[in-house]
Amino acid sequence: MAELFVKLNDREASPYSSDELKRLASSGEFKENDLVFHEDTQEWLQAGEIDELDKIFETENPGTRERTVFAIGGGKGGVGKTILTASLGIGLASLGKKVIIVDADLGGANLHTAMGILEPRYTFYQFYTLQRDKLSDIVLDTPVENLKLISGACGTLGLANPRYSQKQRFISELRQLDADYILLDLGAGASYNVIDFFLAADQGVLVTTPEPMAIQETFNFVKIALYRKLSREFRNNQAVSSLLEQDLMAQPGRMAATATDMLNELQKMDKNATTKIKAFLSSFRPRLILNMVHAHDEIKEGDSLKTAVKDLLSIDIDYMGSIDYDKNVRKSIKSLRPFILDNPKSKASRSLTKMITAGIMKKSGFQGFKHKRRVIQNITDESKNFPKTNLKKSEIICSVKCFYWNDCEYQDGGYPCPIRHLDPIFGR
Ligand SMILES: Nc1ncnc2c1ncn2[C@@H]1O[C@H](COP(=O)(O)OP(=O)(O)OP(=O)(O)O)[C@@H](O)[C@H]1O
Ligand SMILES: [Mg+2]
Repeated sequence: MAELFVKLNDREASPYSSDELKRLASSGEFKENDLVFHEDTQEWLQAGEIDELDKIFETENPGTRERTVFAIGGGKGGVGKTILTASLGIGLASLGKKVIIVDADLGGANLHTAMGILEPRYTFYQFYTLQRDKLSDIVLDTPVENLKLISGACGTLGLANPRYSQKQRFISELRQLDADYILLDLGAGASYNVIDFFLAADQGVLVTTPEPMAIQETFNFVKIALYRKLSREFRNNQAVSSLLEQDLMAQPGRMAATATDMLNELQKMDKNATTKIKAFLSSFRPRLILNMVHAHDEIKEGDSLKTAVKDLLSIDIDYMGSIDYDKNVRKSIKSLRPFILDNPKSKASRSLTKMITAGIMKKSGFQGFKHKRRVIQNITDESKNFPKTNLKKSEIICSVKCFYWNDCEYQDGGYPCPIRHLDPIFGR
């Protein structure tokens, strides 16, 4: 960043370097409402409005850092949760934010592969088996600056079913990590494992495609999340428990009554619980990403999901954004490169950049335009340093200790083996 002219106490001061400004900011002499001359717009703007100055006001103390935990789930498998987690993490990291992406898909970990990392040094396995004491011990560097990864361990039955207390311990340790954003990539489905992570995050993000089955599963996911939350919170409350056990919410398929009906019923029995549930319903606001959108009018599928969730469950869903269907995504996956780095200007990358700018950073108008341009530029720079994974050249591709040995089409070479990450378990 070039030197900047700044007005301190209404007096124009000589140009400052970013290091000098950071020092002044930490001593309180330079504040977000001080004026800075902005080269691009040729006007004096408040420092807090200028994205490039974000880092100057950032606090370096990890203890006081404000972390946002996003859980990226939604029910349906194969809708893009993992690849969006990877590319969203890269987008946020390119803005100078400290980001950790976490593979919380306990049954089918593959976030590391989406990042082009074939053999993660540490995974959850070492954390759960206490080979590594702290969660911070299994945080891995990635080739992307500011972006770290906690890799999942696949193929271990015990890990796919941690106890509630283990999940709580994991979440509380996550919150101690040094990061601005922590993104949890959840598995498919609405098992309690997935739902517990979704509910424990600061922000639950639902990913769906605009297809009827995916929309339906996303609705069911929200319904089960609500049911789980209420049944845990009110497990000692007879009135709430008996209402939940009736066919209002617990039964699969069509709902016999809405959340409003349930609250009206409960109001007659327990006013206090009714008030608490109402407060939860208004604070629980999942966000929605519509992925693989082919045409603009498919957005209305997302609108109908929002309406159904509001009418039947009394929950508001906010859009985070929509991501275009883009055949480049598949190409990037095959070359083990996150799509945003493989082609920062592709349709999918542009829609993701727009989502980061408008849906997460809340920038619009001219600020939004500039912000988007900056993200694309930063990512383009980053993509030059991202190593190419040469699949043909990756040396050993499988292990004789594998129980599929002699019965596997990957054995003769060519592509990385999908179960090769069992290696640590075999103790190779
Ligand atoms: N915007 C997109 N454009 C084109 N294809 C996409 C897009 N998003 C995702 N895909 C395709 O969807 C596939 C599944 O993506 P991904 O593995 O991220 O889904 P997932 O929701 O994590 O799946 P699972 O539930 O099994 O974990 C990708 O391999 C890719 O081919
Ligand atoms: Mg996935």
